[in-house]
Amino acid sequence: MSLVIVLAIIVLVLGAAAALFATQRSRDSQRAVGFLARETKSRDTARRGGAAAPEADPAPSTGKEVELATAEARRGSSELAAAGPTAPVEWVPPDEDSRGVARRQFMNRGIIAGFGLGIGGFAPAALAFLWPQGTSGFGSKISVGKVSELKNQVGQNNGFLYYPEGRMWITEFPAASLDNARKVYSPSELAGMEAGLVALYQKCPHLGCRVPECATSQWFECGCHGSQYNRVGEKKAGPAPRGLDRFAMAIEGDTFTVNTGIIIQGPAIGTNTTGQEAEGPHCISGGAAH
Ligand code: FES
Repeated sequence: MSLVIVLAIIVLVLGAAAALFATQRSRDSQRAVGFLARETKSRDTARRGGAAAPEADPAPSTGKEVELATAEARRGSSELAAAGPTAPVEWVPPDEDSRGVARRQFMNRGIIAGFGLGIGGFAPAALAFLWPQGTSGFGSKISVGKVSELKNQVGQNNGFLYYPEGRMWITEFPAASLDNARKVYSPSELAGMEAGLVALYQKCPHLGCRVPECATSQWFECGCHGSQYNRVGEKKAGPAPRGLDRFAMAIEGDTFTVNTGIIIQGPAIGTNTTGQEAEGPHCISGGAAH
């Protein structure tokens, strides 16, 4: 569908450009008919008693000169008959029809030019909007950072690092719980856990609220209906049907990469690989399990 739109825009732009080009050519042609040839000017000057001698007419070398020569030839001959003296003629204003045509031409060209400019301005914006975006941002694979630096940041943020570009939370996964994790989680989840990190989708699997961290309990606690999850996203209480969903993770070199295009469903209710209990007061009262 987007390809069709792009093609339509390209056709419109080309059409507008062709119309503008045709208008410009027509104007140039009309202007060429209105010029006097150099030879004619020289002859006129000589006739008026001027000292200038007729110049040899060089062969046309530019497009404009070729057009002038062609227009001259179309009028019959480059040798114009000498005009005799004429009596002064009373000035007659141009008739209204001629003026109307000139106005219509002006309006037509103005409309075509405006249309062309409008399309010319709209097309780049439309193309920029439709053009495939880069590989960063939610839905793509994100290089979040070096593992050691991320662990430092998680510690500095009281155990929870929010990464808005990927709509995810990053927390530490304790090395002591890896044996338990290997019985539950898939290889693409374990790739991050074995490096000590886990990337959790911020969206509550109950009804989709964004789940905030609770600094005192060191759990995630959803303010909508009270679902609670431990720090690695395993469900502890509330109506949620499972633990927090998470993303496919990988370590490339020493960089933690998260594929936010692959959402892995959270662990089943009852999964508790870390055994982490609430470490302080809850931020919300725990909702009853449904
Ligand atoms: S949306 Fe989170 S508990 Fe309902």
